[in-house]
Amino acid sequence: MSADKNQWQSICKLDDIPAQGARVVKREGKTDIALFRTLDNRVFALDDHCPHKGGALSHGLVYGDTVACPLHNFKISLQTGQAQAPDEGHTPCHKVELRDDTVWLAVD
Ligand code: FES
Repeated sequence: MSADKNQWQSICKLDDIPAQGARVVKREGKTDIALFRTLDNRVFALDDHCPHKGGALSHGLVYGDTVACPLHNFKISLQTGQAQAPDEGHTPCHKVELRDDTVWLAVD
């Protein structure tokens, strides 16, 4: 991984993330980040932690702009991290960009 002044890090190639799947970015002392890839090749980054009981969202099913938690099926927006009503809760989102075929993540 390489970093620039803005703390953007190149993480992987787009094809390293399965379509409608996720790849986990490990972080020391912090919640891991899950990078999600949609069917139309958009990439989102959320904490790999469901707001319900902490399920690993990276193991969930991606459809459209949503990931369904594998434990109890909360549906979490990849755009906002918000749980879909009637469920409640929020998962922190992170800035992520696709530059050519490389996925860049802004880390704090
Ligand atoms: S832990 Fe995700 S829905 Fe329960």
